[in-house]
Amino acid sequence: MMDFSDYRQDYTLGSLHEQDLPAVPAELFRTWFEAILQTGKEDPTAMVLATATAAGRPSCRMVLLKAFEDDTFVFYTNYESRKATELGENPFASLLFYWPAFERQLRIEGQVAMLEAKASDSYFRQRPPESRLSALVSPQSREIPSRQWLETRLEALRQQADPETVARPPHWGGYRLFPHRYEFWQGRPDRLHDRIVYERSDAGWNRFRLAP
Ligand SMILES: Cc1cc2nc3c(=O)[nH]c(=O)nc-3n(C[C@H](O)[C@H](O)[C@H](O)COP(=O)(O)O)c2cc1C
Repeated sequence: MMDFSDYRQDYTLGSLHEQDLPAVPAELFRTWFEAILQTGKEDPTAMVLATATAAGRPSCRMVLLKAFEDDTFVFYTNYESRKATELGENPFASLLFYWPAFERQLRIEGQVAMLEAKASDSYFRQRPPESRLSALVSPQSREIPSRQWLETRLEALRQQADPETVARPPHWGGYRLFPHRYEFWQGRPDRLHDRIVYERSDAGWNRFRLAP
């Protein structure tokens, strides 16, 4: 047995006060995101993406945030992957960032739609050439016979296609999550953490505090 019951960390680095908070969550997201980028910590764009099947069975995995634009969160993946299948059945998804350098957690919930093809094309062209080829040969989330099978496919493609000019395959592209709820969590001493929620309504964003 591994027992972690004595492992404790106190959270002391920050706080959330209503009088300092912006009216819209995108502004606070930008502030938090710029702060974590400035620390130079690895993978500040890494986020958990949680999806669920139509029957409500959840699954989650890390993906990279590639843009925050017009209040939407953009990430890229394989449109035939498990996450894509689940998003096809059920477009509701959740994102989670955890930034221990600031003792902050950010939960975002919303609806996901496929990114416009042009935007996916443009991001595909920005990727390093070898990553473009990998996107073409990898049937993400499917069982494959071996590592060798994948490498053989990659080698075969290298013989036929120029990675510099290869087009985005239809099975690879982006998604946009349109948030309807954000929760900003700031760790505080003695587990009395700050939790501020922004929820979208027809009139704009409602803001309220949750018990920790
Ligand atoms: C830090 C990190 C970042 C990742 N970023 C992506 C990403 O942007 N897109 C992606 O498809 N998979 C990414 N992955 C791999 C996914 O976590 C996952 O293995 C893959 O997308 C297949 O998930 P699925 O079978 O649930 O669809 C990343 C993994 C890690 C650890």
